[in-house]
Amino acid sequence: MDTTDSGHPPMTNIDWSAWHDAYAEPGSRLADRLAAVRAHIDRRLDDTAPDPVRVVSACAGDGRDLLGVMAQRADAVRVTALLVEYDAGLAARARDAAAALDATVEVRQADAANSDVYAGAVPADLVLLCGIFGNVSDADVRATVMAAPQLCSEGAEVVWTRHRAEPDLTPTIRGWFAEAGFEEVAFEASDDHVWSVGVHRLVAEPQPLEPGRHWFTFDRG
Ligand SMILES: C[S@@+](CC[C@H](N)C(=O)[O-])C[C@H]1O[C@@H](n2cnc3c(N)ncnc32)[C@H](O)[C@@H]1O
Repeated sequence: MDTTDSGHPPMTNIDWSAWHDAYAEPGSRLADRLAAVRAHIDRRLDDTAPDPVRVVSACAGDGRDLLGVMAQRADAVRVTALLVEYDAGLAARARDAAAALDATVEVRQADAANSDVYAGAVPADLVLLCGIFGNVSDADVRATVMAAPQLCSEGAEVVWTRHRAEPDLTPTIRGWFAEAGFEEVAFEASDDHVWSVGVHRLVAEPQPLEPGRHWFTFDRG
């Protein structure tokens, strides 16, 4: 579905702040997934060094994936990042974490499905779509993947996540990325849990950001 923006808030009953608590459990589904995501962020920052790098994170939560990597790097100053998160408390936590970094990080409390929110922040060299694809309809996953080249610079990488509970949508998602002009860099699937992390690099031409588009709506939970 690729509708014009209605400006509505995400429809979900989940307490997303509490959802983040599982990150604190070593060996948990989320802790393992976070490690995989962070490893790819770290690798991408290595691969783009020493150049400046732009990052956007949609539905960023408290930003611990990107901000956690940046906190460990002496070259975080290279990074200009936009984190988009709807929840006020999580956005505030992300801002607090970002304030401790020597980097340019903006946290926008806004609907990350709205293309307009990325104006001025794209094209990005790294795009994080983590924790989205398991919470929206299949049609919205497809719309988001198809729109991803609008967020990307030439050769940019997208890091995304999706559970593999049946019916496992990840083979289809990987096909959609190929259709949208990406090549697969990595696909990691946990042996112990249903999480997976995909990384895709844009090999087609980047596309201009289309204003006024609304790519997804959280409808699970
Ligand atoms: C599953 S969590 C993922 C958070 C983070 N990306 C991570 O992987 O840790 C989903 C996040 O998306 C946020 N969210 C849901 N719908 C949103 C929307 N339309 N715009 C911005 N944030 C949204 C929730 O508040 C929540 O923090």
